[in-house]
Amino acid sequence: VAIFFNTPDDAFLNSAYLSELWAVKDLIRIKNLFPKNWSTDREQQLNDEVRHARLLLNELKKNSKVIVEDLAFSMQEKIYRKYINLSSYNTMSSSGIVHNMTEARALWIYKTYLKVGNNQEYKDCIVGIIEDEKKHFIYNTDVIDQQDSFFKTAINSIDKAIFRTILPMQFGRVIFNSDNFWKKYYTDMPLIEINRKISLNSESGA
Ligand SMILES: [Fe+2]
Ligand SMILES: [Fe+2]
Repeated sequence: VAIFFNTPDDAFLNSAYLSELWAVKDLIRIKNLFPKNWSTDREQQLNDEVRHARLLLNELKKNSKVIVEDLAFSMQEKIYRKYINLSSYNTMSSSGIVHNMTEARALWIYKTYLKVGNNQEYKDCIVGIIEDEKKHFIYNTDVIDQQDSFFKTAINSIDKAIFRTILPMQFGRVIFNSDNFWKKYYTDMPLIEINRKISLNSESGA
């Protein structure tokens, strides 16, 4: 990686660390908004996310010469924010929907890393994290109001568009091994560029 990380693996792990930290921060926000509805399951989930962030940070400290601490470089901010601010919701049910989406994507991202990553120590660390995440889907689903299906469909569509179409179009099928992807990820610029010509054409066609 041409930027400050030695390997795409370090760049990947730092983004995973910040994305776990984003989950911690967002769960604390919801806990403070709805202290009476905060279950022991969700407290467990919060503690798990704190532990995940710490595990990943410890790996980074051992392996990487630099560590980025700014949450602006979490995936929730860096990848999704252009389309949706994932922390702008304010109901308990929405928290279940948002976290189910981000955790499903995290699971996919972690499993992808197990296949394409090059650092065995990072892989060992991630295997432990994956086990916890499976329980979190149950905890999230418990707080979801079935009336919220429109919101659920909307953010799941955004997520799929980003990971199945937009990112692969720009960075190829294995985005996490793309130097170009990580170079863009750790700049102040938006990661996702929309081809201006295409978007103007489609607008004028409407
Ligand atoms: Fe986690
Ligand atoms: Fe989780």
